[in-house]
Amino acid sequence: MTAGPYPVDPRTVGDRTLCVHAGNSVSESGAIRTPITMANSYHLPDDPSTMDWSGTDRLFYSRNSGANQIALQDKLAALDRGEEAVALASGVAALHAIFFTHVSAGDHVVVSDTTYEATYKLWSTLLPRKYGIEATFVDVTDHDAVRAAIRPTTRLVVTEAVANPTTKVADIAALADIAHDKGALLVVDSTFTPPPLYRPLTDGADLVAHSLTKYINGHGDAMGGAVIGRRELIEPIRAEAMVDVGGVISPFNAWLISRGAITLPLRLAAHQSSAQRLAAMLADDDRIAFVAYPGLPTHPQHDLATRQFGGRGFGGMMAFAVRGTPADQNRFVSNLRVITSAVSLGHDESLIVHVGTDGPRVAAYPEEFRRYGHLRFSVGLEDPDDLEHDLRSALDATFGRRPHR
Ligand SMILES: Cc1ncc(COP(=O)(O)O)c(C=O)c1O
Repeated sequence: MTAGPYPVDPRTVGDRTLCVHAGNSVSESGAIRTPITMANSYHLPDDPSTMDWSGTDRLFYSRNSGANQIALQDKLAALDRGEEAVALASGVAALHAIFFTHVSAGDHVVVSDTTYEATYKLWSTLLPRKYGIEATFVDVTDHDAVRAAIRPTTRLVVTEAVANPTTKVADIAALADIAHDKGALLVVDSTFTPPPLYRPLTDGADLVAHSLTKYINGHGDAMGGAVIGRRELIEPIRAEAMVDVGGVISPFNAWLISRGAITLPLRLAAHQSSAQRLAAMLADDDRIAFVAYPGLPTHPQHDLATRQFGGRGFGGMMAFAVRGTPADQNRFVSNLRVITSAVSLGHDESLIVHVGTDGPRVAAYPEEFRRYGHLRFSVGLEDPDDLEHDLRSALDATFGRRPHR
């Protein structure tokens, strides 16, 4: 791992030290931060004629490798306790890279019934239709159902650690055992639960995917994705999905995300403490129909989340709805003044999005999501007092004043 000017051993330093130093290096100029290298090509050796043009070990072309890409990958591998990381253009590019590389025509996968939309679309439509890969969607909290769904041709079990949007929590150690018993790999999208909150590889997952666009960058200004895991699983992703398919991250985005990740543990602590407070506040308000947040004792997997995340928190994401119609959800959102109505999550800015009750995925959601729709709420870094005031004021403006307890 590059680090400068002193080497950093991820096993012996704390997460904040790791986020500051891992992947950083002293440049030839003596600058103590990795500079941005906006170059498509690097100088070739005197005799390039025997070079492997698909190789990723030597810097020669930015689709194969790049200085900023390497710095980011080193940081991410250290953070997630993986041997290797590959950084790609977006979270979806990272998920697709896993599927494209590790599944072939005629194979089967088991996929959580509650995932980010694009994961659902890849497995329900695109990959089966284009490549003849079969997928079975299951409730990953029902371990018997997961076991029963696995076939001799099953290559992957795919889940999110905390699911977008319902916040259903998967038991990663249990799913890893089930997958491994049957010779399959466990793939965990940990976008809602970045390190140091959670490291699925340490619970037996084989590959972890992140949308770097979210918490790891954290500033809402660069897209990226990554896959982390054992060398023998990452190298083929690099060779096939990155070099030959080309979903490569730009050097500038890799630099921005490396920079954003420096403050990840500090930011995450703030996201989480505000989320815990706001979830409790909303749950206590009778104008709110439901709140789904793993940190609430009423959450169906609260005990699992407490154990699995080792007391390090429950993330900054929740879903809730106000009591009322879809028009009321929209009126409530339009009455917010600090929290912004926009997609994405894990940004510095609090973001909320009203999602309705239509669509094939909704059938797998809890009853209250199907009844009211939901507001997916990414709690940002603003002062928690301001966020609480914003939510209370918007409720008052939408429904009339309720005496605050
Ligand atoms: C859980 C999860 N995985 C993957 C993605 C896709 O990430 P990106 O938008 O960077 O492609 C998202 C985006 O919201 C997500 O929430």
